This record gives sequence, C-alpha cells and structure tokens, in this order.
Amino acid sequence: MCGIVGYTGKNSALNPVVEGLRRLEYRGYDSAGIALPTEIGKPLYIEKRAGKLKNLEEALAKTPNSTSGIGHTRWATHGGPTDTNAHPHLDNDGKLALIHNGIIENYVQLRAELEKRGHKFKSETDTESVVHLLSDARKENNGDLAAAMRQVCKQLKGSFTLLAIHSDNPSHIVGARRNSPLVVGVGNGENFLASDVAAFIAHTKVALELGQDEVVEITPTSIEVTNLAGQVVKSKQYEISWDASAAERGGFTHFMLKEIYEQPKAISDTLIGRLDGLNLKLKFKKFEKIVIIACGTAYNAGLVGKYAIEKWGQIPVDVELASEYRYREPSLDKKTLVIPISQSGETMDTLMALRYAKSKGATIFSVCNTNGSTIGRESDAVLYTHAGPEIAVASTKAFATQLIAMYLIGLEIGKRLDNLSKKEVNAIIEQLSALPAKVEQVLETVEPLRELTRKFKDVESVLFLGRHVGYPTALEGALKLKELAYMHAEGFAGGELKHGPIALIDKGTPVVAIMPAEHSVLAEKMASNIQEVKARGAVVIAISEFDFVGADHLIRIPKTDQLLQPVLAVVPLQVIAYEMAVARRNDVDQPRNLAKSVTVE
Ligand code: M6R
Repeated sequence: MCGIVGYTGKNSALNPVVEGLRRLEYRGYDSAGIALPTEIGKPLYIEKRAGKLKNLEEALAKTPNSTSGIGHTRWATHGGPTDTNAHPHLDNDGKLALIHNGIIENYVQLRAELEKRGHKFKSETDTESVVHLLSDARKENNGDLAAAMRQVCKQLKGSFTLLAIHSDNPSHIVGARRNSPLVVGVGNGENFLASDVAAFIAHTKVALELGQDEVVEITPTSIEVTNLAGQVVKSKQYEISWDASAAERGGFTHFMLKEIYEQPKAISDTLIGRLDGLNLKLKFKKFEKIVIIACGTAYNAGLVGKYAIEKWGQIPVDVELASEYRYREPSLDKKTLVIPISQSGETMDTLMALRYAKSKGATIFSVCNTNGSTIGRESDAVLYTHAGPEIAVASTKAFATQLIAMYLIGLEIGKRLDNLSKKEVNAIIEQLSALPAKVEQVLETVEPLRELTRKFKDVESVLFLGRHVGYPTALEGALKLKELAYMHAEGFAGGELKHGPIALIDKGTPVVAIMPAEHSVLAEKMASNIQEVKARGAVVIAISEFDFVGADHLIRIPKTDQLLQPVLAVVPLQVIAYEMAVARRNDVDQPRNLAKSVTVE
C-alpha cells in the first residue's frame, strides 16, 4: 500500500530516491517523505508533505547533498494523511529514521510501554512505535542496526516492510520484511532497496528476492541478508525482464490509456509458447474441485475462469473473495486445487487465503503478473501473465491477461482429463490466437464511444448487464466506473434485474448491456431484459458482436467463442470508465482513496 525506496552509493541519493518514489507512487499517494544523513552523528535531514509527491518535490529545492537516503509514499491506515503522519518517522534524537509499509497490529501496547519509558511521540501512526523500539534496541546492540532490527521484528505483530537509516553509519541501510514486499536492486558501487523493482529499474536490472522474516543490510558495495536468528541467508538473484520505458507513459496522457492500448501485446505475450500446453508438473486427475481466490478485478477474471474451466475441464469450480475465504472455515483438502489470481502477487487478502488453503493441504497454482512476488513464491506452481508493469491503479491489461490465463488453464485441464476432442482443442486454440488482432480491432473503433460517454458525465448511476460470461464482464465494467468516475455503478446478471434492482431504473439511467452471441437463447433473453429497462426509461448502450437493433446506442465488437467474449467486451467498458474519469476531471491513474497493491487486510 505504501511505496518504499532506499539508496546508498557514490552519487547523490536525492535523485534515485525521488525518482523511485515517482515510480512507486501507484502504491499510495496521500503523502510522501524522505530522510537523508548529511553529517555523521548529527540529526538527519527530513522532509515530508501531505498530498501527492509533487508537494514533496516542491519542498526539496534546497536539499543538502547526501549519498544515501530513504523515501516513502504513503497510503494512510493509522492516522490521517498529514505532514506529521507522513513517513519517515524519527527517534527522539532525530538520528534514526524509519519508513514502513504494512500494519503493526500490536502498536497500541508497544506505544504505551515506550511512553512509560519516556519516549515522546509526534504522530498517530502505528509506525512510530517501531522507530522508538528500534532506537532502544540499537543502543542495546552497541549501535548494530541490523541486530536491532532482528530483535525488533521478533516483537512486532502484523505485516511490514521496514527500512531504517542512522546518521552514525550513514551509508548503511537496513531493511526487513514480513508479508509485505521488499526487493534489493544490485548495482555497481551502489545498491537499492524498494517495494518494487520499478523503483530502480533505470539503474539496475539485477534484483534479489527477500524471504519472509529476513533482514537485509546494504552499503554501496555489500549486501547481507540474515534471518531473525542472525544466520546468513543466500537470496535468489534474478534479472528483470522489462526495461524502464515500460514504466513510462510513452506519449499517452495517462498510464491507463497506454495500458488499455497495450492489451493486444499483453495478450499475445501471455499466449506465446503456451497454446500447445502448459509446462506443469501438477496431476489434475487427483483434484476433485478447484477454488479460485482473488480480489477486485482479479476476482472478476476468476468468475470468467469458472465458466471456462467447468465447461472445458468438467471439474467443479468455486470462486471466492479472498478476504472472506479463510474466515468461514471452508471445506478443502489435498484433493482441492486452489488458484489465487493476483496482478501484484502481494495482495494481503489473497496471500492469507493462500496460506490458509496450504495449511489445509490444498495444492496452490497461482496466476500472477509480478515475477518474484510473495504469492508466486509461496505457490506450488505459477502461471505468470505477461502484461508487463501495470502502473495505473485501475487494472486493464492485467485483467485481459488474467482472462487468458484462465482459458489456458481450462484448456490444459480439458486436455489432460480427456474432456476435449482434438477438434475442440484446435478450435479453442484458433480462437485464442485470434484475440490480439480482435482487441486491436475494438481499439480502432472506440472513438465514438468516448464522445458518447461524455454525454453521460453528470448522471447519478450507471448499470451494467450481462448474462453468462457477460455477467462477470458487467461486474468488471461497474468496478472500473466506480473506482475511476466515483459514481454509483453496479453490474447485474440480466435475469436477476427483475428480482429487485430494476427499481433503480429511472428516466435517462444509462444501462450498458453486453449482448451474448447472436442467435443464442441467451441473446433472446438479454433482448427481453433490455426491453424491460427501456420500458422504464433507461438509455441502453449495447456491446454486441452482431447488429442488435434493440438498443439506443450500439458498440460492435468482433465475433468470437462466447467464453472468450469478455476479452473483447471489456475494452469498451474500460474506455467508458476512462473517459468518464477524464470528463469529471478525476485523477485517472491515481483515483482517490485507492492504492494499486493492497498489502493490508
Ligand atoms: O494485485 P491484485 O490483482 O491482487 O489486486 C487485486 C485488486 O486489488 C485489484 O484488482 C483492484 O480491484 C483494481 N484496482 C481494480 O482495477
């Protein structure tokens, strides 16, 4: 939820730290701050500001020079987004600074004990307790910050990535992680720590993964990772496969628009080398059921996955909101295959549901976009989507590739369990291969939709209707509109409307309807549902692969297999949400109250 970056090296730290924060701003953007050591043993230079990173940047005009530093961009949990609550937080000497991503669950008790010992607190955050604790621990460990960090981590409950720097040893930064991400960027005469490789990709493409409950110390020329017992741990080193330009806007006004237009490539990259089969050691025959766990957009992709896996694989699939799953003691065992879906691979709700399922003996086969992420690492098998870095908070290309992953898994199971004939397999492969070009076609024809959307910019509510896989597509369309346009939007199954939600229809209510395949029974039923809303004053925008005449406005998409239709139908829905946000002057890439990677429960 928060973005964390640390730099130590031969150059000025200000640039890499601020640049890193800019690239991590998607993780949280309600305040930002930095800490730089300027003189050995003297209080650190600190600057922190509520609001977007640009507020901090404006305040940094006269920053002193330093070759090490840490920076933070925040998504507030404990304490509102104020200058004081912004990170870094300092100990009472002002020589030790700490930044944090996550939640310290036992902070109330820690704070009470620390206050009794004379520590003075300034903020309302859970984080400030940790810096005071670390300050005492450092003294107890004769100034050894890494030993102090190990000691403190054992006292903390909750989830955290922590970075700390002390002015007595200014080129030395210490980090730790539990349930929140932290990666090391391995440079030449300089090293980095960050929540995400995006922060340092312009400087190095070599990264080190850190495991659970590990502490890392970096200097310009050394990296040492230990576990909480102080034993040295060998970390896995990997090459980052994308370059810095992938995380730039590249001429587009917003990352979201760029990412919408990157969908044909993302789909094609995710399909490449996989249409003839997935290289997996899993024995699908042993599974009696599949449970998909995910949140938000990834959950909607999972709902589509249920249709594909059940039809092609003939195996029962439940799709569960990760945040609910483990709390209702679901029935699962070693005959259950659990598929967590997560773009970031760090979503805490999904991670916790994964761990619960694992503890019950289930096999975990995750779908992730971020290489080296915690969810991927803790799974028995992973299918990586190749969407590349998704920067806009609203997910678009990651969703498209999650859908592709669902189809690939459905196809694989169908083949391995002998449920699909050769002819059926070939037909599916042919339709999947055609998707990138078809998405391209949709993108070429959305221009009129942008103008049409602007006409509805002041409506109170927009409803989305779909049947079959059009239903999860409708849910995704509504989610996109809510998060970007800040307006009431809901997705419904077409047949469900008459059971209550139809009362929401008023004169002029826009209803976006996703039409099922031409001549299908579902298309007839959907046509009736459209008549029902029109009779009550709705203005209907239909997304259809045929010339449907029952709507007020028609958006045509290419024909494809009904199961694959969400890949095409979602594109106009993304464009509607994007355009509505622009028309309402909202922040498209960083919508209010949200963060890209939700690392708290
Ligand atoms: O990183 P994840 O895929 O696990 O994220 C899950 C959701 O937080 C995410 O899809 C969220 O709903 C998006 N902002 C929606 O656009």
